[in-house]
Amino acid sequence: MRQPNWVPAGTDLEKPNAARMYDYYLGGSHNFEADRQMARKAVELWPELPRIMRANRAFLRRAVQYLAESGITRFLDIGSGIPTFGPVHEAARRTAPDARVVYVDNDPVAVAHSRLLLEDDPLSSVVQADLRHVDDLLARPEVSGLLAAGEPVAVLLVAVLHFVPESDDPHKLVAALRDALPPGSALVLSHASLEGRPDQAGSHQDLYRKTPTPLTMRGREAIEAFFDGFELVEPGVVYLPEWRPDDPQEVGPHPERMTGVAGVGRLP
Ligand SMILES: C[S@@+](CC[C@H](N)C(=O)[O-])C[C@H]1O[C@@H](n2cnc3c(N)ncnc32)[C@H](O)[C@@H]1O
Repeated sequence: MRQPNWVPAGTDLEKPNAARMYDYYLGGSHNFEADRQMARKAVELWPELPRIMRANRAFLRRAVQYLAESGITRFLDIGSGIPTFGPVHEAARRTAPDARVVYVDNDPVAVAHSRLLLEDDPLSSVVQADLRHVDDLLARPEVSGLLAAGEPVAVLLVAVLHFVPESDDPHKLVAALRDALPPGSALVLSHASLEGRPDQAGSHQDLYRKTPTPLTMRGREAIEAFFDGFELVEPGVVYLPEWRPDDPQEVGPHPERMTGVAGVGRLP
């Protein structure tokens, strides 16, 4: 297979990848046959998956807009993926034209594509780093520079913590991020959870087990515990469509079918 210019040399295009599967669900073109095959298998087991991904992306946009409107102009998007379909800088700059964003992902393909997309944007930067090595991530000049001004920073962990298994102690990683943040900062988080769909347990996790990024579902209590030290913004940790919808009609009769929960917290 020919390597397109946004894919770093040496990337195995025959291996499905979470960032590119997500792009496929959103309707993007930055994916390959292996990604599409795996994504289609997942949709067979779980037909609502593309809608869940869109609900997740819509939550991200609403949360970023909410924070930009409340005065935050610095964003650290960890597990940012391929920043198409309403990325953080676009959402933030609707109200904060000077918003700065540091995009972080551990996937070289997502990083290479993000760099290409953002090369003319002096207020955005892209870092290849792994959330599981949080000290290294925080020490990167782009990240430490964003935090050093002492202004509030919104950290986004949107649809990424379910890729961090218990063995990497995700709560400790989030606490390390929290402790590095200036006062008034925020945490934006969404996480896969089968609370509303216990019938689905197993199938999706089994499928992702075959990709380089296996999935760990968590219950609401464990997800709420990521907000330790933060004050939860109303309405708290809720199903994706329920977090401050643009229009209450958009929530629909079964928000629990979106199988993901989300919330925003602020530091005092
Ligand atoms: C489902 S996508 C979410 C993209 C975006 N945050 C959103 O919600 O629209 C998950 C992203 O997290 C990245 N990721 C997974 N594990 C990671 C880790 N340990 N460190 C950094 N990024 C990670 C994947 O490469 C992928 O791009």
